[in-house]
Amino acid sequence: MSKRVAIIGAGPCGLAQLRAFQSAKAKGADIPEVVCFEKQDDWGGLWNYTWRTGLDEYGEPVHCSMYRYLWSNGPKECLEFADYTFEEHFGKPIASYPPRAVLWDYIKGRVEKAGVRDWIRFRTPVRMVTYDDDSGKFTVTAQDLVKGHTYSEEFDNVVVANGHFSTPNVPQFDGFETFNGRVLHAHDFRDALEFKDKDILIIGTSYSAEDIGSQCWKYGAKSLTVSHRTAPMGFHWPDNWQEVPLLVKVDGNTAHFKDGSTKDVQAIILCTGYLHHFPFLPDGLRLETGNLMWAHGLYKGVVWQNNPKLFYLGMQDQFYTFNMFDAQAWFARDIMMGRIELPSKEARLKDEQIWIDRDATLETDEDMIWFQGDNVQELIDLTDYPSFDIEATNQTFMAWEHHKHDDIMTFRNNSYTSLMTGAQAPAHHTPWKDALDDSMEDYLRTD
Ligand SMILES: Cc1cc2nc3c(=O)[nH]c(=O)nc-3n(C[C@H](O)[C@H](O)[C@H](O)COP(=O)(O)OP(=O)(O)OC[C@H]3O[C@@H](n4cnc5c(N)ncnc54)[C@H](O)[C@@H]3O)c2cc1C
Ligand SMILES: NC(=O)c1ccc[n+]([C@@H]2O[C@H](COP(=O)([O-])OP(=O)(O)OC[C@H]3O[C@@H](n4cnc5c(N)ncnc54)[C@H](OP(=O)(O)O)[C@@H]3O)[C@@H](O)[C@H]2O)c1
Repeated sequence: MSKRVAIIGAGPCGLAQLRAFQSAKAKGADIPEVVCFEKQDDWGGLWNYTWRTGLDEYGEPVHCSMYRYLWSNGPKECLEFADYTFEEHFGKPIASYPPRAVLWDYIKGRVEKAGVRDWIRFRTPVRMVTYDDDSGKFTVTAQDLVKGHTYSEEFDNVVVANGHFSTPNVPQFDGFETFNGRVLHAHDFRDALEFKDKDILIIGTSYSAEDIGSQCWKYGAKSLTVSHRTAPMGFHWPDNWQEVPLLVKVDGNTAHFKDGSTKDVQAIILCTGYLHHFPFLPDGLRLETGNLMWAHGLYKGVVWQNNPKLFYLGMQDQFYTFNMFDAQAWFARDIMMGRIELPSKEARLKDEQIWIDRDATLETDEDMIWFQGDNVQELIDLTDYPSFDIEATNQTFMAWEHHKHDDIMTFRNNSYTSLMTGAQAPAHHTPWKDALDDSMEDYLRTD
């Protein structure tokens, strides 16, 4: 096959796409030539931690939004690859909420086994993608940062897998200019110990707010004040944690909130989410969306409606992650390889409208989990990705939600059953709040 496929990004989504093609090849299929462009010097996307913030050594925006001591915020059983289990990778059942290094190792293990590293051009950000109607091909322009060389190549298909949790959404509040402390976005948060013994203000109420606040609490912050725009998170927080309405202004070190209350703080952490950012895509090819359960413009959540030779992976808000990225990548692969025939644009739009209409009715996290599970089910039914029990996965998410509401500082002490192997995860050797070492060695030790 003389087709060429470009993948932008070697995070979990881009790696899922590489594994999808490699698994077809391993079964004897004639696959396209696959080139993956990755701007960092290693694979794993956000899971590839760096201490750096701001710009990297080449002047590129640092991609990493993860931080030290980050543990999975959902059970590993809900994200397990159906074709490469945790037990296969680690050689034994492991506990359910691994720290970042453990999950990074797991992600890497599958693609090391697949032998696809040579398909990736590291330190090579994509600068521009254009499509030519006459030739029916994309031109991808990329820069080899090491050689300082920019070049263009033609491809039949492009898969956009550059993630959407790296370009911070940074609102402005009155008084930030003269605040006598540090103001930072979650993207630049690296080490909770920096905030030990301090009074911290967090803006936002989603996963970053919950987790960065919990990290600061675990590592000794004096107090946490979490400010909401829409509604408080409503978990049972520790005594030195309060939820307040939206920040109105800062005066010196004093934060003023909408209900007239005030709090003196030494640092403000903006956990205000991220922007989908595609500086390499022109109008007409560029997805325009917020962090929504259904990103508009994508057939089955994957195929760009206006040009179905272009694919987007992982652009939705996420409950499901790694195995959803797989479901998407296998589906995209089968379209690119002509195994799945796409319906007409009219039929594709009609199909998408059903999801958009249902998305508008979702109210609770539970609704969103079942919605995303149905999307994943539909995708895995269409390809040879190993099937797994979506309903049981949804039920594990429900148990996770309940454990969080029971006690937000102990939910990570629970363990669940693998949906892939049926094995029950062991309890972790140390409760999360007392486990200060986030290394893989410490997590896996059995003594
Ligand atoms: C703080 C944080 C914690 C999270 N914790 C969890 C968790 O516990 N469990 C979970 O399942 N999910 C978690 N997630 C969700 C996370 O989005 C996914 O796990 C996963 O990393 C998404 O994979 P991705 O490949 O779409 O994007 P990313 O992981 O962001 O990878 C994208 C890749 O594209 C590359 N890239 C970007 N631009 C270019 C370009 N122009 N050219 C070439 N390459 C480019 C980047 O360098 C990067 O390697 C977390 C997210 C954040 C922000
Ligand atoms: N492993 C982990 O433990 C971990 C840790 C952190 C993050 N994550 C992951 O990271 C991803 C991103 O999560 P996120 O929390 O960063 O983003 P997010 O889920 O998109 O949430 C953004 C938050 O910012 C608030 N916000 C936005 N603009 C605001 C403004 N101008 N003023 C006040 N509040 C504003 C939103 O409030 P409204 O509700 O009012 O819109 C919302 O609470 C998720 O997939 C999550 O799972 C995981």
